[in-house]
Amino acid sequence: MNTPQEIQTGIDGFRLWPGALSMQAQAELLAQVLAAEAEAPLYRPVTPGGRPFSVQMTNLGPLGWVSDREGYRYQPTHPVTGKAWPPIPDYLLALWSDLTGWPEPPDACLVNLYRDEARMGLHQDKDEANMEAPVLSVSLGDTAVFRIGAAEGGPTRSIRLASGDVCALTGPARLARHGIDRLIAGSSTLVPGGGRINLTLRRAR
Ligand code: SIN
Ligand code: FE2
Repeated sequence: MNTPQEIQTGIDGFRLWPGALSMQAQAELLAQVLAAEAEAPLYRPVTPGGRPFSVQMTNLGPLGWVSDREGYRYQPTHPVTGKAWPPIPDYLLALWSDLTGWPEPPDACLVNLYRDEARMGLHQDKDEANMEAPVLSVSLGDTAVFRIGAAEGGPTRSIRLASGDVCALTGPARLARHGIDRLIAGSSTLVPGGGRINLTLRRAR
């Protein structure tokens, strides 16, 4: 793949590569994700407090992030089908290695589907055993209004993530608070039925 162009975000450790994926790469990756969803169907988890997420989820890779009444965790099987998660596509493994340079491959890829009013509240990614490893995120479909702020609290900034953009939480931004305020409906025609798919690659172990 061509090495994508990184831009400065002004947030130490928050890395952003706008348009990292060509239209063709986006379409090919989406086809692979949709095929995987046939094996590991999207479902709507609940928070530990029992509230359904507005986002639908599934996972790829040896481990998947799940949430239910018992809490947040990584597990090797789909909570509804009981089957192992499908593998992470090679394209994403290469992207992780090219962009993060992290010596070990990701072992978990969360797939989030946002439709209509779906959003994701401000949170930190901290269910991973080693929180030094980066988090790499790929956006497909409608543009999202992403919000990010320091781990310790304080002001946040809003950044738009469009289809094909890739960003990473690394180093001092690894535990940054972040979330999705909303989608810009109709900004992309990539995802069948509309909306946005986010792929988040992590080292769970
Ligand atoms: C997440 O933080 O889990 C998802 C972020 C995104 O959808 O871009
Ligand atoms: Fe997150």
